[in-house]
Amino acid sequence: MRFFLVTLLVLVAPLLHAEPVYETRQDHDPNGIGKFFLGREIAHVMGHQGAAWLERPEREEEESTDRLLDALDLKPGMHVADIGAGSGFFTWRMARKVVPEGRVYAVDIQQEMLDLLMKNMAKRRVDSAVTPILGTVTNPKLPAQSCDLMLLVDVYHEFDHPYEMIASLVPALRPGGRLVLVEYRLEDPNVPIKLVHKMSEQQVRREIGLHQELQFLETKTVLPQQHIVVFARK
Ligand SMILES: C[S@@+](CC[C@H](N)C(=O)[O-])C[C@H]1O[C@@H](n2cnc3c(N)ncnc32)[C@H](O)[C@@H]1O
Repeated sequence: MRFFLVTLLVLVAPLLHAEPVYETRQDHDPNGIGKFFLGREIAHVMGHQGAAWLERPEREEEESTDRLLDALDLKPGMHVADIGAGSGFFTWRMARKVVPEGRVYAVDIQQEMLDLLMKNMAKRRVDSAVTPILGTVTNPKLPAQSCDLMLLVDVYHEFDHPYEMIASLVPALRPGGRLVLVEYRLEDPNVPIKLVHKMSEQQVRREIGLHQELQFLETKTVLPQQHIVVFARK
């Protein structure tokens, strides 16, 4: 019955422009918040106390982060956003690719993360190319049509208002601008990440597919643990 209702919602919501309903369940994964979107439980936000994990030395190799950056095809002069930027692992790496004229907006909901991020940007000497933005759980506070690309690494699954967040990211994309979600593959049991912190490609496409202003471009499978799912603003 639940499967039937979720399927019906997925098919009908885009036609009606209706905002999808969230569901709360008492019986749920302890790593999740008990709130479900299209059948998927939303994960707890990773606290700033865990930032060292984002900067772990083995990350580059484990996640082939250089390959991810290459897949973004960034060019000097581009304006890009790192949404849920955390400690800035990807922020400075993106900044180096878009300078001197380009800019990276680093958005997070934790001021502590942004403070740490800006220290890391200064260490890498890219702080003048980075604008930190303290967003809210429904609003990234980005200027309209400011971005050629938005990168969301390991963050979408912890948005506690995923529909509203994507809806408010879209106006900040330029026409043709790309929205890139990178999530650990739920389909692969060998990816050593807690279940609610992983997403299937199908679920990503189902949820983002509700936004009619976006079109699916491709899924890149060049990474060992994550999929790169790319959408563009029409
Ligand atoms: C697991 S960390 C990933 C950080 C970074 N993307 C990386 O891969 O190194 C997720 C980050 O997303 C942030 N976050 C969660 N919900 C958010 C939202 N609605 N808007 C912006 N940032 C959010 C958290 O505060 C946290 O810093």
